[in-house]
Amino acid sequence: MLKILIICACVCNVFCYFTLLGKCPENLKVQEEFRLADFFGKWYQSYHYSSDGQSKNNCSVLELVTKPTGIYLNQSRIDRGLFQRYSMGKLEIPTKIEDAAKLDLTFVFDNAPRRLRTRRYPFYVMATNYNYYATIYTCEFSPLINKHFIYVWILSRNQILNDVSKDLAVKPLSQIGLDASKLTMDEFSKCNPKYYTDEPTEPMTFRYPVPI
Ligand SMILES: *[C@@H]1O[C@H](CO)[C@@H](O)[C@H](O)[C@H]1NC(C)=O
Ligand SMILES: *[C@@H]1O[C@H](CO)[C@@H](O)[C@H](O)[C@H]1NC(C)=O
Repeated sequence: MLKILIICACVCNVFCYFTLLGKCPENLKVQEEFRLADFFGKWYQSYHYSSDGQSKNNCSVLELVTKPTGIYLNQSRIDRGLFQRYSMGKLEIPTKIEDAAKLDLTFVFDNAPRRLRTRRYPFYVMATNYNYYATIYTCEFSPLINKHFIYVWILSRNQILNDVSKDLAVKPLSQIGLDASKLTMDEFSKCNPKYYTDEPTEPMTFRYPVPI
């Protein structure tokens, strides 16, 4: 019985998460001559789009962190209005200069079966002017059901993104058929979590296991 329940839960996860038909969009135009060095510092998630319509956290902040083992993305947020948590994804830096904005993130899921422990996700900078806004895109494809999942971050150096920057940030999204009306605004007015987690936890943006 328990087994059946677990299987059902997994199937729902897959179907609820991957909702867009076919493969991930290809040949997306990304930021030209992207300069990673100028991308460091704090970014507030001012708007987002999640193709599964789920919203499980608030007050999300992204920041690159340099460690002896490489550059990591610290994704911190308040989960379900209660828990201040963060996850660390290792940044994989493209070798070709023309692909500089096509970053990847690798997460290690310690509790997952060995095959699914290390997972890599695209983290493409579609547009940024470094000082005000950045538009980031990720996509995951499930060959099993031939559907994909998309998440878009509209990041801002300030908690509130000005209108001009927002227009510029939204522009590249027409490539994937999104406009401003599909974005959800994130607020930073109520960021008082009850609990803090000191250790990195699993990311919530990248939920479904796709092995690399
Ligand atoms: C990640 O960011 C959060 C929030 O700013 C901070 O509390 C946490 O210490 C950071 N973690 C690392 C490893 O930098
Ligand atoms: C966002 O924060 C508010 C206020 O703390 C909380 O009531 C709400 O549940 C949070 N939403 C999510 C998706 O975490």
